[in-house]
Amino acid sequence: MDQAQKVVSELLSNPVNVGLIGLIVFLVYKIVRGQKEPVGPAPDPPLSKLKKQDFTLEQLREFDGTGPEGRVLMAVNGKVFDVTRGKNFYGPNGPYSVFAGRDASRGLAMFSVSEDVIREEYDDLSDLDNEQMERVREWEQQLSEKYDYVGKLLRPGEQAADYEVEEEENSASSERAAGEAKKTE
Ligand code: HEM
Repeated sequence: MDQAQKVVSELLSNPVNVGLIGLIVFLVYKIVRGQKEPVGPAPDPPLSKLKKQDFTLEQLREFDGTGPEGRVLMAVNGKVFDVTRGKNFYGPNGPYSVFAGRDASRGLAMFSVSEDVIREEYDDLSDLDNEQMERVREWEQQLSEKYDYVGKLLRPGEQAADYEVEEEENSASSERAAGEAKKTE
């Protein structure tokens, strides 16, 4: 009997070894199979970028992640951000879902995710002290680095800006400026 056969027969003679070999084979199979088939649902494809627009509080409410697109918007300090990428945080089962489709400013200022810290009516935050307002601005800054800014949160009676006209004007004036620059060349 050569060396290899000896090892094999010795291994197989002990039921504990046989069990261990079976376990190893099973684990290797699980690892290899696990690599081939990712577990869980595939991640959602990213949504298209929203065009710049302002929102009333009511319009914002539509974007709490339960709509057909699953988009999540959130306002902080009068600015609306598209936080869909952070759905794990703000989506329906996320720890901060209370902020989805809402003005999160007061919750962030108070460091609270309690429903009753978010007002149904427009919140002008005028009763917050300097420290709380500073906290709101810090959150605004932090979120603006991570998420797309979509537009303003409108105060009651405030008109939405027409960003398409604004953009046309901007591009027209930059074309004019380019024209002027050419003339002076
Ligand atoms: C025990 C309490 C808490 C723990 C352990 C906790 C933990 C965390 C962790 C681990 C992150 C992720 C950081 C990252 O990966 O970027 C996070 C983000 C965040 N937390 Fe908390 N948190 C707590 C309480 C709160 C409260 C009370 C609020 C409400 C004001 C809050 C608001 C946020 C927000 C807005 C984010 C940013 C999510 C984003 O990047 O979009 N957290 N927190």
